[in-house]
Amino acid sequence: MKVFITRKIPVIAKDLLEKNGLSVKEFAKDRAITKEELIRNTKNVDGIISLLTDKIDSSIIDNLKNCKVIANFAVGYNNIDVEYANSKGIIVTNTPDVLTDSTAELTIALILACAKRIPESETFLRDGKFVAWKPQLLLGVELKNKTLGIVGAGRIGREVAKRAKAFGMKIIYFDRNKREEFQNDTGTKKVSLNKLFSTAEVVSLHLPLNEKTHHIINKSNLTLLKKNAIIVNTARGEILNENDLIDLLKQKKIFSAGFDVYENEPNFNKKLLKLDNVVLLPHIGSATIEARNAMAELAAKNVISVLKKNKPITPVLGD
Ligand code: GLV
Repeated sequence: MKVFITRKIPVIAKDLLEKNGLSVKEFAKDRAITKEELIRNTKNVDGIISLLTDKIDSSIIDNLKNCKVIANFAVGYNNIDVEYANSKGIIVTNTPDVLTDSTAELTIALILACAKRIPESETFLRDGKFVAWKPQLLLGVELKNKTLGIVGAGRIGREVAKRAKAFGMKIIYFDRNKREEFQNDTGTKKVSLNKLFSTAEVVSLHLPLNEKTHHIINKSNLTLLKKNAIIVNTARGEILNENDLIDLLKQKKIFSAGFDVYENEPNFNKKLLKLDNVVLLPHIGSATIEARNAMAELAAKNVISVLKKNKPITPVLGD
C-alpha cells in the first residue's frame, strides 16, 4: 500500500510507515505542492499525510481512487472538506494534544512581546537609537492583576490560561460550550463575547476556523477593547477581520496586537508592516522540535491504524 506525504516532515513518519510495510513517497520540493501536483501524486495512493497549506476540497477528493485516510499534520483541519471526504469513505485525522504546549508557550511569548514591546525595543537598539537611558523610553504594560480573556477554551486556550495565572492574571473565557475542565483549572466563568472584549486587557484567540467562526472577531467586538488592551491570534487568521483590527491599531485605539496567523497566508496584509504596535510571526505555534516530531509520529500512526483496519487514533468529523 502507498502513502503520499505532501511535504518533507520529520523523518520519524516515513520510518514508521515503512516499518509497517507501507511504501512512502514524499513531495521533495521545498515549497507547497500545487493543486496539479497533488492530484497527480495522490490518484492511486491508499493514504495521505497533508499539511495545513494543502487545500483538500471535493475536486481533490473526487480524484482519489483508493485513499482510505487523510492525516493532517496539524490540529486545525479547515483546509480539508471533512464532510465530503467522510461521505466518500475517507477518514480524516489531525494532531491534537502533541502541539498544545508548544502553541500555548508561543501564545504567552506573543503576549509578553506585545506587553513589553520586545521586537520594537530590539529594532530601536539595532538601529543605533539607544543613546541614553530614559524614564519614558518604550514603556510597556504589566500583566499582573490584568484580565486575560480566552476566546475558545479548548486544549490550547486552557494551557494559556494556566500559564497566565502564574503571572497573576485574572481569567475569563468565551466558548460556544460551557467548559468544565477550563473552569476547574482557572476558577472562572463563561462570559459573552462582548463582555469579554469590554472587560479583558489581554484577549487571546483559540477558536477553530469554520463557517460559524469566520470573522467572528470584527469591528463590533474589537471596538469594545480598552485603550491599553492587547489582542493576540495564534489560531487561524480568518477568525479575525484583519482590516477592522488594522484600523483600530492605526488609530492607536488599543495598545498592540500579536499575530502568528493571517487571513491570507503567506501573503499577509502588507499594511501590518507599517505599524509599530504589532508583533508579527510566521505561523510558528507548533514549531518546536518536540511538537513537530510528535505530530509526524501521530500522523503516521493514524495512517497505519486506518490502513490496518483499526480505529484511527485522532479522527475528526465535519463541523
Ligand atoms: C497549526 O496551525 C495547526 O493547526 O496545527
